[in-house]
Amino acid sequence: MQKERPEPFITADAIAKRIRELGEAISNEYPDATEENPLALVAVLKGACIFAADLIRTLSIPCTIQFISASSYGSGTVSSGQVELDHDLAVEGRAVLVIEDIVDTGLTILKITETLQEQNPSSLRICTLLDKPSARVHPVRVDHVGFSVPDRFLIGYGIDWNEHYRELPYLALLDA
Ligand code: IMP
Ligand code: MG
Repeated sequence: MQKERPEPFITADAIAKRIRELGEAISNEYPDATEENPLALVAVLKGACIFAADLIRTLSIPCTIQFISASSYGSGTVSSGQVELDHDLAVEGRAVLVIEDIVDTGLTILKITETLQEQNPSSLRICTLLDKPSARVHPVRVDHVGFSVPDRFLIGYGIDWNEHYRELPYLALLDA
C-alpha cells in the first residue's frame, strides 16, 4: 500500500549535513577518548535510534553505545508528564554523551540525567537532534543541538506519532 507522505520540514540532506557538523564538534570535544577509555554514548530509545546510528558514523573518536528506553508520551501528542526509564547501563567513571531525539519540556532529559548521575560518570553531556526551547518547563543544559524548532509536533527520522512515521527519511510537521 502506498502511504501518503507529508512534506519535508527538514530535509534528509539538511539532517545529514548538520549531523556531520555535530560529529566533528563532538569528536573535537573528547580528545582524551581512547580504545581503553572510549566515549560512552547513551541513546534514548526509540526516537533517537536513527539519529544515533547516523551520528556514531560521523565520530572520529573511540566510542561505545548503550541504550536507555524512555517513554513519556502515553498516546497522541500530549505528554503524560511521567517518564518511565528502562535500562541496564554501565557508565561509572566514563565520559557520557546522551543522544536524544527531542528535548521538549525537559522532563525526560532531567530524569535520564538524574539516573545516570547516580553512577558517577566523569562527565555527562547531552546531544539532541531537535530542541523546542519555547516548550521548556524543566531547565536543563543541552550541549549539542541539531536544530532548534518551534513548539509543533514533529515526525519522521525515527520520531513517531503513536508509533507511525518513524520510517520517513526526513522530518515533517504532523499538522502542516
Ligand atoms: P520532554 O520530556 O517533554 O522533554 O519530552 C521529550 C520526549 O517527548 C521526546 O524524547 C519525544 O519522545 C517526545 N516528544 C516531544 N516532542 C515531540 C514531537 O514533536 N514529536 C514526537 N515526539 C515528541
Ligand atoms: Mg523520546
